[in-house]
Amino acid sequence: MFVSEDVSLLLSLCLSCLILIFSLKMILGKSGNLPPGPKPLPLLGNYLQLRKGDLLKTLQELREKYGDVYTIYMGPRPVVVMSGYKTVKEVLVDRADDFLARGDIPTFDSSYQNYGIAFTSDMHRWRELRRFSLATLRGFGMGKRSIEDRIQEEAACLVAELKKTKETFLDPRTCINKAPGNVIFSLMFGNRHEYDDEELLNVLDIMYQTLLTVSSPWGQLYDMFPRVMRHVPGHHQHIFHNMEKLLLYVEDRVKQNQKTLDPSNPRDYVDTFLIRMEKEKKDPKTEFTLRNLVFSTLQIFFAGVETMSTTLTYALLILLKYPHVVDEVHKEIDRVIGRNRSPNLQDRSRMPYTEAVIHEIQRFVDLVPFGLPRKTTKDVEFHGYAIPKDTNIFPMLTTALKDPDCFPYPTEFNPQNFLDRNGQFVKNDAFMPLAAGKRICLGEALVRMELFLFLVTILQNFSFKSPGAIEEVDVTPQVTGLGSFPKPYKMAFIPR
Ligand code: HEM
Repeated sequence: MFVSEDVSLLLSLCLSCLILIFSLKMILGKSGNLPPGPKPLPLLGNYLQLRKGDLLKTLQELREKYGDVYTIYMGPRPVVVMSGYKTVKEVLVDRADDFLARGDIPTFDSSYQNYGIAFTSDMHRWRELRRFSLATLRGFGMGKRSIEDRIQEEAACLVAELKKTKETFLDPRTCINKAPGNVIFSLMFGNRHEYDDEELLNVLDIMYQTLLTVSSPWGQLYDMFPRVMRHVPGHHQHIFHNMEKLLLYVEDRVKQNQKTLDPSNPRDYVDTFLIRMEKEKKDPKTEFTLRNLVFSTLQIFFAGVETMSTTLTYALLILLKYPHVVDEVHKEIDRVIGRNRSPNLQDRSRMPYTEAVIHEIQRFVDLVPFGLPRKTTKDVEFHGYAIPKDTNIFPMLTTALKDPDCFPYPTEFNPQNFLDRNGQFVKNDAFMPLAAGKRICLGEALVRMELFLFLVTILQNFSFKSPGAIEEVDVTPQVTGLGSFPKPYKMAFIPR
């Protein structure tokens, strides 16, 4: 009896202390003169406002109240939310160096621990790995003719696979994801897999399930309260098991490369990294370590496969909903390419409508609506506020992509967003689905190549059919968190 009273007393005391420390920290501490925002509760932050399920909608409502620059508390952690094309551009491009560090993503950080290119906030590490990774992927053809052949081959395999489905209704993701998966396999590990290969299917499935959970309310809850949620059972626990499996897989693949490495003839990203590791093995400050190799490889692999698969899956859903757009693209393909040869990248400049459709798909899909979080690299003055070093920033890409000052039809799917009166393609600086500036998506060049070659090859060969009425096709996302995912759906591919 006495013991349990003592324990309760001790617990209440600890909790009161924690609340007091947190409140004092928020009032006096390192929060500088942060932009205004909804009043946070001790420990919970703005959880009560943000928990309503649709985080994106809540952030948009808060923007209406507090403006383009405001602060929310994800649990105890302040995040400055930046909205609108002009503000997002200021953060990512004009003042890039001030906001260049990676922000916290606890769901991933607990596995990556600040290693690897994409999730590190260590600026020396990031610079070294970024420079190396860009040069290496370019060396293996990213953005160049040499990888064009590889993507064309993969597109042809995809068409063969889709023909095998014999016009039955199916979830297209199960076929589509293998093509971008194989492009990344080739770049990172130097090989591709047959579409029924268990290894390929397994890795793709684990990555998809992981990202879906990271973006779900479970993942969002973990990102707010990692210390508590780590010990609570729930779907978020799958993330860590899956990450463990993926890391083991990459470690194994690295070992296979090590065994067969010929230093005078690097076959892929992993080989090139291993050679650099050997060269710098006596430098105690080198970033070319086994850890950075495994983590960078997994991060590029993950980023390259999942983003492309989801964009392509979403693209087909949108095209199913807008058959008149498909008709126009078909006409342009027949006029410029015909049906007897593979599309190539030179065709792009002669296909303004298709180019506009692909841009509009990326704009409408809005795959990474909050952007990947950034962090301030020093104390920063911004719009009259003082944002301390290491404060998390959400550069809300969605608010640039759907900025009514930049696009005539910001909320609807309409290729006219990228066409002038003469039907010519027009660029738009607010088009930033891959972010912008110094830390723009590493795969930028690959994304442009893959989207054009995969989508145009599919459209050259097929029309699409929905199992129900077109009005029932729902293009609103299933979950919107770190990533935006389409609801699962079925369609049939009808050979043309
Ligand atoms: C449609 C597909 C894609 C989308 C929408 C996308 C989007 C993004 C975004 C928004 C970022 C965050 C940039 C920032 O810090 O502000 C990013 C980073 C990154 N992306 Fe992509 N991405 C795509 C495809 C790819 C591909 C194919 C690759 C593979 C090469 C890739 C590799 C990366 C890497 C490694 C980073 C981290 C860059 C860094 O921190 O320096 N992405 N991507």
